[in-house]
Amino acid sequence: MDKYDKIVELARRRGFFWPSVEIYGGVRGFLDFGPLGTLLKRNIEEKWRRTFIYEYQEFMVEIETPIIMPEIVFNASGHLEHFTDMIVECTKCHRKYRADHLIEEVTKLGGLEKLTPEELTKIIREYNIRCPECQGELGEVRTFNLLFKTTIGPYEGNIGYARPEAAQGMFISFKRVFEAARRRLPLGIAQIGKVMRNEISPRQGPIRLREFTIMELELFFDPEDPKCPVLNEVEDEVIQVLPIKRILEGKEEPIKVRVKELLEKDIVKNEWLAFYMGLGQRFVRSLGIPSDKQMFVEKLPEERAHYALQTFDQTVWLERWGWVEVAGHSYRTDYDLSRHMEYSRQDLRVFQEYEHPKILKVYRVRPRMEIIGPKFKKEAKKLARLIEEKSKDMKFIKELKERGFAIVDGKRVTRDMVDISLEEVKETGRRFIPHVVEPSYGADRLVYATLEYAYYEVRGRVVLKLPPDVAPIKAVVFPLIDNEDMKREALRIYKGLKNRGIAAFYDISGSIGRRYARADEIGVPLAITVDGQTLIDKTVTLRDRDTWEQIRIPENEVIPIIESYINLKVSFKDLKKRYPSR
Ligand code: GLY
Repeated sequence: MDKYDKIVELARRRGFFWPSVEIYGGVRGFLDFGPLGTLLKRNIEEKWRRTFIYEYQEFMVEIETPIIMPEIVFNASGHLEHFTDMIVECTKCHRKYRADHLIEEVTKLGGLEKLTPEELTKIIREYNIRCPECQGELGEVRTFNLLFKTTIGPYEGNIGYARPEAAQGMFISFKRVFEAARRRLPLGIAQIGKVMRNEISPRQGPIRLREFTIMELELFFDPEDPKCPVLNEVEDEVIQVLPIKRILEGKEEPIKVRVKELLEKDIVKNEWLAFYMGLGQRFVRSLGIPSDKQMFVEKLPEERAHYALQTFDQTVWLERWGWVEVAGHSYRTDYDLSRHMEYSRQDLRVFQEYEHPKILKVYRVRPRMEIIGPKFKKEAKKLARLIEEKSKDMKFIKELKERGFAIVDGKRVTRDMVDISLEEVKETGRRFIPHVVEPSYGADRLVYATLEYAYYEVRGRVVLKLPPDVAPIKAVVFPLIDNEDMKREALRIYKGLKNRGIAAFYDISGSIGRRYARADEIGVPLAITVDGQTLIDKTVTLRDRDTWEQIRIPENEVIPIIESYINLKVSFKDLKKRYPSR
């Protein structure tokens, strides 16, 4: 049994997660979260909010948009055209496989992303790759779109798709949010929600799901002012990165650099992207995954999503699968807003005022109707309009001034037909399409990775050393023995915790050792035991899950101590100093 099998077994038994629709035989790529898994996932999401949104609320907001959206959205976003994988079917048993994965497994060939269906089919024939299940002959490789399709309402033609990323909701509502957020850049819009991807044959449990939760953020900034004002907060974070240059040299070992060096060495294209890589590493580290088990891998052009100019996958090392992506950090430029402008015909540009208006000198070309009118008669009006429209066209003005004529709408316009003047105009600001940097995290994979890094076996039993702020249950309260006075005190403490909204439980069944073991196995950081001494001096024992050490604390300080502990304001070491054993 490897760690994955052990965690999956624990997850099922103690109620973290299990495959969905089990009573009907299950369906691949869907996961149920049980009572503990739901709490753990929610705590990870809340931590993401704290790290990426609340901490930066001067420029960050959170929204919620629908999962289902009409076809035009995904035409505009490019997903209908590009969000595809290569599929191949067995001609005998009709099982379907992801062609690139199958070929890679058999041949160990890389770089398959850039190949066409025809080229992949050729490799299948050359290597005589057969169906792994029945050895039947495989058919032709074709593309398969991963969007889940549905209809909106009872109208067949009214096609909708489940979103494969939350991002499109942020782009579509960008203008409204921008206006509500006082029309200022930079502006970050975040969203946590379900997304769906109709994966061809997911076989990796919680690692590859057809429906999962994404934690996504679109940071909109002015491309002429790409400075990230908070970069200094993470610039000294040292990260492991594997840039394209190294990959193309055939190297698999990352280099270790500070976030600021990513920019100095031109590895990352802009400050916001570097900032989120640094912040992202900190976030994942705060889930218990050390920095040396994280690596940022730059995507090759053929591996990048269609909207990205540069992408780094944030990966973590998992025992069974090696480096697994938990987030994508992409520079999406103005791709999405431009596409939605084109398809919706709405102006999604922003107007940003200059601090000091600019006085510009501009040429103005005015048609002289007394000449143009009699010469061009019925067409004079249209020609006059076109001439005025060309006022800003320097080539047109140059031709008129230097050559004495220019051609407009196929007609010869001569210098005497226009007045040209140089005028001063006041420009108060600029109108432009913002650029976007996106960090995008998969919550479900992070739940699994957090569990894997928390999983320890100590003296033959499992201890989940989850960070106290993400642990699903924060404290457990025990009466040492089945004694009415102890039970009464323990219940009083338990109710006090409950009233403060702290997830806790009260456990009376079995020996104290078994009760500690049960709590350790689901990662409860602290255990409070009411014993004989409690009844004398109103102190209780506080036990640390990770060291199994105990201290005695006053009963009336239990709640503030637990609150500080789970908010990471105090460690058990600090508490030991504060409450030395007597
Ligand atoms: N928006 C990130 C992704 O589609 O993976």
